[in-house]
Amino acid sequence: MPYRTIIEPFRIHTVEPIDFPDEDRRRAALERVGYNVFGLHADEVIIDLLTDSGTGAMSTRQWAGIMQGDESYAGSRSFYRFRDTVAEITGLTEVIPTHQGRAAERILFAVTTNAGDVVPNNTHFDTTRANVEYQGAEARDLVIPAGLDPAAEHPFKGNMDVDALEATIEEVGRDRVPLVMVTVTNNSGGGQPVSMANLRAVREVCDRHGIPLFLDACRFAENAWFIKLREPGYADKTPIEIAREMFSLVDGCTMSAKKDGMSNIGGFLAMNDPTLAQECRNLLILTEGFPTYGGLAGYDLEAVAQGLWEALEEEYLRYRIRSTEYLAEKVAAAGVPIVKPPGGHAVYLDAKALLPHIPPSQYPAQALACALYLEGGVRGVEIGSVMFGKPQPDGTEIPAPMELVRLAVPRRTYTQSHIDYVGEVMIAVAEKAGDLRGLRMVSQPPWLRHFTATFEPL
Ligand code: F0G
Repeated sequence: MPYRTIIEPFRIHTVEPIDFPDEDRRRAALERVGYNVFGLHADEVIIDLLTDSGTGAMSTRQWAGIMQGDESYAGSRSFYRFRDTVAEITGLTEVIPTHQGRAAERILFAVTTNAGDVVPNNTHFDTTRANVEYQGAEARDLVIPAGLDPAAEHPFKGNMDVDALEATIEEVGRDRVPLVMVTVTNNSGGGQPVSMANLRAVREVCDRHGIPLFLDACRFAENAWFIKLREPGYADKTPIEIAREMFSLVDGCTMSAKKDGMSNIGGFLAMNDPTLAQECRNLLILTEGFPTYGGLAGYDLEAVAQGLWEALEEEYLRYRIRSTEYLAEKVAAAGVPIVKPPGGHAVYLDAKALLPHIPPSQYPAQALACALYLEGGVRGVEIGSVMFGKPQPDGTEIPAPMELVRLAVPRRTYTQSHIDYVGEVMIAVAEKAGDLRGLRMVSQPPWLRHFTATFEPL
């Protein structure tokens, strides 16, 4: 199209009202939930950018598919549609449905990983890390150095450091590395893409050592679009061609269909090794369900099968990546420090740069997430030392490498004026940055503490 404005490639068919809690109500809500925005009722939030996971709008075709769901316990028609779609997009032959991504992770690591093993990843997502550690293994993040520098401009900041991967295998020995995983896009590292060249290089290392390579494929379509935009030789390829090439380089994948499956629930584990798949299915039956539904309703399988294709549509991806970039440009132009370049699904505020007076031990990104909610009812999520800090026996903590607040954009859900409003709220908070105070953690659970830890202001 000859015009500059990239419009939403859909029109609105059903609407959901938004509540507008006033500042007093927001202040009271923050106190009630112990300064952890996960505890808020969704009705207390004006614009909810907590996650892009399962929070998007489904299409008329997905809803139509839902009406055709086959709820047979075994062998449902919807399963075969799901299986064929996943196989067609990924080329992987063994397709195991799960209720969401972490269920696929739990099964994969339970079957492949033992205590003392080391699992390399560019950056583990929190559930992936927790599932590796739950097996008694070490989850090692090996993203390239630029991936840890929020201000560094690099087209593929999600890339794995191939030399560090080689050194890790050297150090711990091939037998203690059950698999290598690459997360596309690299969510915890800023939603940054991984290049095809990097995937190829990682594949080469894995081949040399005989180690299987898995993709954490949650945002595979967004990653494919970044490859099209940024990697030489891909401009004329379609997203599906690029996605197929990405999957052709791996032995399997875990997937949360709540992201690029464009669905409210769902996921899968897929691979080529039938023996490994059989072991996974045995475990699947224990906790998820029979292998032709894996914890999902037949109608969910239909929604995912349709959604996976929609995530690969060019008009959608152009709008999707541009609308995230639009928010990033708006706040960056006002001098708000963000991870650059913006990721596919989210804008990440750099709390370390914005709040240099709050040390990591006082959780600057958690304080910033609270301030965004108090200012304008905008809910984001801390990705910093609350999520990834490592408590030590002496009561201190090793801080996370970065202190970020992620504002994740649900798919096809908010319009440009919602996003303009979010930008205004972010800029208003940044103007008051000097007044913000840190937090003290009051309580925490043993796993995934960011979901339920509570705080008080210092
Ligand atoms: N891997 C990545 C890269 C993820 O972003 C997520 C979920 C998962 C695995 C787990 O999938 O939620 O379906 O069990 N990320 C969400 C988020 C929760 O907000 O980024 P799940």
